[in-house]
Amino acid sequence: MDYLTIALPKGKLFAKSVELLAKVGYSAENVVEDSRKLVITNEETKVRFIITKTVDLPTYVEYGAADIGIIGKDVLLEEDKDVYELLDLKYGKCRLMLAVPEHKRRPNLTDYAHLRVATKYHNSARKYFDKLGIQTEIIKLNGSIELAPIVGLSELIVDIVETGTTLKENKLVELDVVYHASARLIANKVSFKLQFERLNKLVKDLRVVLEEENTKCK
Ligand code: PRP
Repeated sequence: MDYLTIALPKGKLFAKSVELLAKVGYSAENVVEDSRKLVITNEETKVRFIITKTVDLPTYVEYGAADIGIIGKDVLLEEDKDVYELLDLKYGKCRLMLAVPEHKRRPNLTDYAHLRVATKYHNSARKYFDKLGIQTEIIKLNGSIELAPIVGLSELIVDIVETGTTLKENKLVELDVVYHASARLIANKVSFKLQFERLNKLVKDLRVVLEEENTKCK
């Protein structure tokens, strides 16, 4: 049997992804987020885990450096890589939002034309405004997006909202949803063909576990 290389993203999806994969028999010792060891192998089950920066994960899978990976739909839409999306894992639910400081709220979206929008998701933001036919200046940042309108770098932001706490704490309000997202299992296109049986079984097993978890929650 060939090794199956699984890419795991650092950050919010990491712990749940490790837990879920372990439930379907894919685990290895010391798969921890802050591991200094970046490749962790289980010789018995022929599984190899690699831990990557979130935004880079689809690239590892697209080029086949990893056979499969778990990543947010938000990153998939933003990065637009040539990979198969095998399964919606239903956790890590969040939404990409257009938001504005409370005191700068205006009645219509078109009232925000020709303004600056700070975001980590510049491709998604660009598509969103183009579709609406609203011209804006997109400013690409790499984090702490909520800071931008507070210090006058931008008037608006497009950013991920999960609980809404960060927006609230910075006195920002949501104006519109760009899209909803959750964690997805993705596969390299060639790996999917070469390891079809193994991956097909993995998807089936994951579906069963997710269904069980869902029933328990009800
Ligand atoms: C994300 C996002 C928001 C925050 C939203 O940031 O960019 O800042 O989480 O979560 P909430 O709605 O539950 O408050 P992340 O923690 O990934 O860090 P970043 O700001 O450096 O991007």
